Amino acid sequence: MQVSKRAQRIEPFYVMEVAKAAQALAREVADTNAPMIFLNIGEPDFTAPPLVQQAAARAVAQGNTQYTPALGLDALRERISQWYAQRFGVDVPARRIVVTAGASAALQLACLALIDAGDEILMPDPSYPCNRHFVSAADGKAVLIPTTAAERFQLSAEKVAEAWGDKTRGVLLASPSNPTGTSIAPDELRRIHDVVRARGGLTIIDEIYLGLSYDPAYSQTALALGDDLISINSFSKYFNMTGWRLGWMVVPEALVPAVERVAQNLFICASTIAQHAALACFEPESLAEYERRRAEFKARRDYFIPELEKLGLRVPVMPDGAFYAWADCSEAARKLGVEGSWDFAYALMQRAHLTITPGRDFGSAQTAQFVRFSTANSLPQLQEAVRRLRALLG
Ligand SMILES: Cc1ncc(COP(=O)(O)O)c(C=O)c1O
Repeated sequence: MQVSKRAQRIEPFYVMEVAKAAQALAREVADTNAPMIFLNIGEPDFTAPPLVQQAAARAVAQGNTQYTPALGLDALRERISQWYAQRFGVDVPARRIVVTAGASAALQLACLALIDAGDEILMPDPSYPCNRHFVSAADGKAVLIPTTAAERFQLSAEKVAEAWGDKTRGVLLASPSNPTGTSIAPDELRRIHDVVRARGGLTIIDEIYLGLSYDPAYSQTALALGDDLISINSFSKYFNMTGWRLGWMVVPEALVPAVERVAQNLFICASTIAQHAALACFEPESLAEYERRRAEFKARRDYFIPELEKLGLRVPVMPDGAFYAWADCSEAARKLGVEGSWDFAYALMQRAHLTITPGRDFGSAQTAQFVRFSTANSLPQLQEAVRRLRALLG
């Protein structure tokens, strides 16, 4: 059967190979004194708090399960709007909020509503691999721009201006970023947005990890910069609801009808049960629990990253959010007699039963030198991981 060129353009997720090999080895070593520790996980190790679970059960029991409007339940859009006011002091009217099946559907909707064939979207290298494919599935082209540690692995206004060409349509940023956990400095973001705006382009910013921010200097939403940005967000990370498939995006008001049309036709609506459950995320009891968990994520970062550094796994920019560390493994790989982040990841898997993510999928600039550690794991597990790393590299 002939597969479309569009589908052929979508590259495989190479790290899935690592994950598969890790699962196979994990089964073999499950009953030893060194079972596999997974430091490659891209989702919180917490589940939705009690009020959210109860709200979902209630929606099912009461039969509140019909389709919702394509833009989402009005009550949920209102609650998200209030959350922007409470948490960020920013006025984001509910009519600009579109509820989606996760940030993934939001990114897909934004790309389908805004990108024409051949349009180019600038994004940092490294960045979240799926972003290239959302653009390419809309027949656009992702242009990856290599970044440096001095830039916090984010785009700069200078680089955006330099890379802007006839076909450039806009930028797609993520702050904090996956895989680096680093955010764009607010002044730089303002400058980037000015460059984009002056060229009539689009600033799309993925703020899915913004709830998990640990440094007040980087904790403000980009929506404070104006009402002409698109912000992508989700219940997956801060709200611990990955599998519930619920997110949202904030779009300029003029764009709502186009997004609504695409959403009506391609998705009908996001999960009704998940939407009813998500209303309970904003209850004071749930928000207090989310803040406790955020403190736990920060404590893990504060423990783990200095330990990596002591072992020669340099983390050039301290992550200010999310649960990732982007570490240069060159020196550690040499110690193990291997070359490059791919072989280093396999060496850690086989010799220490630690699964990490090699840089490969996140771009091509320096990704052979970098690996991503995830700290979405308990402190005792992270401590055991450090003991094993010390035995191997110390
Ligand atoms: C930067 C980034 N954006 C979007 C997503 C997709 O999230 P969702 O579960 O909301 O679709 C992820 C998931 O890991 C991510 O890391």
